[in-house]
Amino acid sequence: MEKQQIKKRIEKLKKEISRHRYLYHVYDKQEISDAASDSLKNELFKLEMEHPEFITPDSPTQRVGGKPLDKFKKVRHSAPMMSLFDAFSREDMRDWEKRMERIMPGQRFDYFCELKLDGLAAALVYEKGKFSLGATRGDGAIGEDVTQNLRTVEAIPLALRRPEESELVKIGLPKPARNKFYAALDKGTIEARGEAIMTKKVFNELNRKYKKEGKPPLANPRNAAAGSIRQLDSKLTAARKLDCYVYSLITDLGLERHEQELELAAVLGFKVLKYNKYCKNLEEVLAFHGEWEKNREKLPFHCDGVAVKINQLSLWPRLGTVGKGPRYIMAYKFSAEQAVTKIKDVVWQVGRTGVLTPTAALEPVAVGGVTISRATLHNMDEIERLGLKINDTVIIERAGDVIPKVIKVLPKLREGGEKNIKPPADCPICGGKVVKAPGEVAYRCVNKNCYAVNLRRLTHWASRKAADIPGLGPKIIEQLAREGLARDISDFYKLTAGDLKPLERFADKSADNLAKAIAAKKEIDLARFIYGLGIRHAGEETALLLAKQFSIFNFQFSNKFKISITEIIKHYQELKVEELERVEDVGPIVARSIYDWFHNKYNLALLDRLEKNGVTIKPLEWRGKPQILAGKTFVLTGTLESLTRDEAKDKIRKLGGDISSSVSKKIDFVVAGAEPGSKHDKARKLGVEIINEQEFLKML
Ligand code: IVH
Repeated sequence: MEKQQIKKRIEKLKKEISRHRYLYHVYDKQEISDAASDSLKNELFKLEMEHPEFITPDSPTQRVGGKPLDKFKKVRHSAPMMSLFDAFSREDMRDWEKRMERIMPGQRFDYFCELKLDGLAAALVYEKGKFSLGATRGDGAIGEDVTQNLRTVEAIPLALRRPEESELVKIGLPKPARNKFYAALDKGTIEARGEAIMTKKVFNELNRKYKKEGKPPLANPRNAAAGSIRQLDSKLTAARKLDCYVYSLITDLGLERHEQELELAAVLGFKVLKYNKYCKNLEEVLAFHGEWEKNREKLPFHCDGVAVKINQLSLWPRLGTVGKGPRYIMAYKFSAEQAVTKIKDVVWQVGRTGVLTPTAALEPVAVGGVTISRATLHNMDEIERLGLKINDTVIIERAGDVIPKVIKVLPKLREGGEKNIKPPADCPICGGKVVKAPGEVAYRCVNKNCYAVNLRRLTHWASRKAADIPGLGPKIIEQLAREGLARDISDFYKLTAGDLKPLERFADKSADNLAKAIAAKKEIDLARFIYGLGIRHAGEETALLLAKQFSIFNFQFSNKFKISITEIIKHYQELKVEELERVEDVGPIVARSIYDWFHNKYNLALLDRLEKNGVTIKPLEWRGKPQILAGKTFVLTGTLESLTRDEAKDKIRKLGGDISSSVSKKIDFVVAGAEPGSKHDKARKLGVEIINEQEFLKML
């Protein structure tokens, strides 16, 4: 290619890449795949490497890089970057409107509502349409030059888009304003201001990564955004994947309404929030606020209120500013995300690597619309830093999407019943030894299998043949275990929708659904209950036989509808190994295993917790029903057409029959479906009666 051709190609590529950036960030439209877009960037990068004379600062390849700075240069803002006055109630908002009415009697106010993002304010200056300066707020008059860092943020255009005149007409710019605009874009300066933020998704991803790498986590998305912008090495900023939304144009372009400013910002290539809304009166403003106060969790970023602005720009200078901020904008905050509550207990969860992490069990408390019953405590050092004791009154904070944290102890409210918090001597999950390696903060369980074995226990309990909790599958269980929400099976019955909502993969609805599903399964069939405990050698069949034994032994002549866990404990505490061996199909090994399980203090404590958390037991369903299959034992083989194997087993059991997995002379019937296996042959050899599906159904 000739030099001129290469230059042209570079220009074309830059334009096309910018166009896709614009469509993607401003309109959420993706015309080409990420891979295609990367390949355009690659081609541009290669051409520029071969011809560095054609590299311009607004090239998309110039977003990353730059030498680390020693410190930031100070810059004076073209106009002060002020703060906002806060309102916390409808009354505050009505008072605000009244104050403005007093200044401008008879004036009607139109409003424009914007979600108030919680990040770091940024001034973005464009000379002749090219990004020339990015600055922080600083003290309002003088900020820090963070241009290099802001250049790495894809949401910020490096060059402004040049809109067609028709686009300006559509926004409602009259001819003189259009001319003024093009002059500022082509020859002058345009300044926009906005908020650089970190989305919840990026925040969570980074924190997961940091956790894996053993680095300290970022405190919250706001601090993370602010910290990222103020990095001296712009490569670090780039790695933080920030986002940026513009909320005002500072340059006077002769517009009439604030709403138009934002429309203009969007056609220039800035990201503008799509949730913003024009409101014709204060009532609509209050409704907008109410709506988002309720739904703020669903937003992809942290938002702390609504910035309510007078829409008519001509009124801004007339209303003027007082002290720290303008009279024509009000920050109507959402209700606090902090609350005061008591620490009931500290529970220790065991992570994949055996590390024990403390979690505070709280007196349930409403924070920003959801009920919270636990908070993370990180480690023993954090407990010491806070000076925390059990029964302390504390301030907890729910920062956006993250699990609530204890931020402060209120020692003046102590009543004398506080207890020191000590790391456990034995692992609370497996009873294994707990050690603290010298120089490490963490305490660990030395049993390498502790976490995995526990996960299997939890999954087994929730499975279809045991407690049968829909929606509580292995993935969710692993997530709950990781978050310390499911240390053992009793914890399932403590989960509230409020505990689940902040977790990844959960929305309001799915959190509510799971909490409801668990609550609906608090009453468990006795056989399922025994099976769910996961006692060694006590499979489905044994559990059923044990359940029968329990029922006959305890109340064969009574009409009980509910069994308490206390009764179960009592029964097995009193039962000798020999007595257990007398249960059909229970040999010495099985009997010993059951006996040991019910004589282990951890298991008994677990049963206690299950009872405390509201789990009750239903006696066997066969009681009171015709027992036409009583005393008969079935073996199932092959595939049945009209019902699944589990359904068939269920039917047999409900009618008093038993099921065995192997054929012997003691078996009464072998039910043979399609393609029966070796059991069929064995039955024939032993002379056991074989029936087909039709005969079986008839029998039922
Ligand atoms: S208007 C005079 N609009 O909130 C200042 N600010 O508490 C004009 N903020 O420093 C600001 N979202 O960084 C405005 N939609 C929004 C905003 C917003 C977030 C930040 C801004 C400001 C701070 C004031």
